[in-house]
Amino acid sequence: MRFLATAVRGTERILMEELIELGFEAPTMVPGGVVFAGTIADGMRACLWLRTAQRVMALIGKEVIRAQSQLYDTVRSLPLLDWFTADATISVQVQGGRELFADSRYAALVIKDAVVDTVRQAYGRRPNVDKDDADLQLVVLADGDTFRFLIGLNGAPLAFRGYRRKDVEAPIRESLAAALIRYSEWDRKSPFCDPMCGSGTLLVEAGWMATDTAPGILRGFGFQQWPFFAAELEPTWKELRDEALQRRLPAVRGIILGCDIDRKAVESSRSHLAATGLVQSVVLRESNAHELEPFRKQGWIVTNPPYGERIGGGVEEAGANLVGFMDRVSTFYEHTVAMVMDRGLQEHYIARKPRKSLGTFNGPIATRFLVFRNRPAPSTEEPSLPDQPPAQEPPTS
Ligand SMILES: C[S@@+](CC[C@H](N)C(=O)[O-])C[C@H]1O[C@@H](n2cnc3c(N)ncnc32)[C@H](O)[C@@H]1O
Repeated sequence: MRFLATAVRGTERILMEELIELGFEAPTMVPGGVVFAGTIADGMRACLWLRTAQRVMALIGKEVIRAQSQLYDTVRSLPLLDWFTADATISVQVQGGRELFADSRYAALVIKDAVVDTVRQAYGRRPNVDKDDADLQLVVLADGDTFRFLIGLNGAPLAFRGYRRKDVEAPIRESLAAALIRYSEWDRKSPFCDPMCGSGTLLVEAGWMATDTAPGILRGFGFQQWPFFAAELEPTWKELRDEALQRRLPAVRGIILGCDIDRKAVESSRSHLAATGLVQSVVLRESNAHELEPFRKQGWIVTNPPYGERIGGGVEEAGANLVGFMDRVSTFYEHTVAMVMDRGLQEHYIARKPRKSLGTFNGPIATRFLVFRNRPAPSTEEPSLPDQPPAQEPPTS
C-alpha cells in the first residue's frame, strides 16, 4: 500500500528522517508530508511510533474525473465497504480540485453523500458525520483531473497523545514539540531542560524519547474501527503494542528538568508527567528562567517562550522576557539552546544569529525553530558550576 504521513507545515524533512530512523523504506518528501510504501501493519506501526506526524493515511483509490457529474458515481465505485461501517463516525475533506469545483465544500458534500449512501445500502443505517473528531476521515487530494482518495488510519490527529487535560492554556502541539527536540539534535542522554515548561509538552516528548516510549501507546486509532480489524488485524496490533511496551525503559537515565514561573503551570506539568509515567523521571521547579543555572558540563535547553498574544502580557513584555532569557542562557558553556517562537518576536528581539533555523507553524501562528550552540568552556578556566540539576531548591517531585 501507499501511505501519506502529513507533517506540521515546515517540518516535512524532520518527519522523513524519523520515518527512515524507524525503518520505513524509501520515504519520499511531498508538499505537506512524506509518502512511503508498506503493509497495513506498517501503517499501524507508523501511527504508534511517529512523533512528528499529524496523520497517516492510506491511498484507497486514484481516479480521473473530468466533470462534476462523475464525482458521485466514481466515489460509489470505490471499495468503500472495505473501510467504512455504519458504526464509525466519518468526515470528508477535499484539498485542491479548483478546476472542477469552485467550492471544495460542495465536492466534500457530494463525496460524503456517496459514502453515506453506500453504507446505508449495505447496513440499513447511515454512519454519523463528525466534522471535528471522526473515527474515519476520507481525504481527497485533487490535482487537475486526478483525484486521490485516502483513508485516515489515525482517527484523532497523531498529536493527540491521550494524556492531556483540557484546561491547559496555549500548549504547543505535541508533534511540533517532538519536531523541535529532533531539530535541536538532542542525543536523548544529555541533560535536558525546558525552563518555561507550561503544561510540560516538551518534557513529556523528551521523556518519551529517552525511555523509548511509543507516542501512541496511551490512545486508540481510527483503524480499530475498520470492519475487518477484529478478524484480521487485531493480533498484529496486539503484537505491535506488546513490543512497544517491552521496549519501554522504566525511567529516564539522564536528567530532565522542567521549570516555570507560574505555579499552576508546574502543577499542570506534574499531572501530565504523572499521566505519562514520567513523574519519577523529571524534576520540576517553580522558578524564573532568567535565574536558570547551567548544567555541569553540556546540556540542552529546549523551550517555547510566551508569544505575548496567546497568554497574558503584550508583545513588548514577551520580547523583554525573551531578551532576559537569552542574555542568561547564552553564557552557559557547551549548551545547545533551541526554541520555537513567533517569527515577529524573533525578528524584533533576537539579535544573536542562530546556528540553524526553520520556518514552521504552531496552528495558525507562523513560528520558527531556532538553535544556538554556545561556545566551549575556555581551557584555562576551570568551570565552577553546580552539580546537576542545579540545586536551587529540593525537587518537588
Ligand atoms: C507558551 S507557554 C509554554 C507552553 C508549553 N510549551 C506547553 O506546551 O504547555 C510559556 C510558559 O512560559 C512561562 N514563563 C514565561 N516567562 C517565564 C520566565 N521568565 N521564567 C519561567 N517561566 C516563564 C509561562 O508561565 C508559560 O507557562
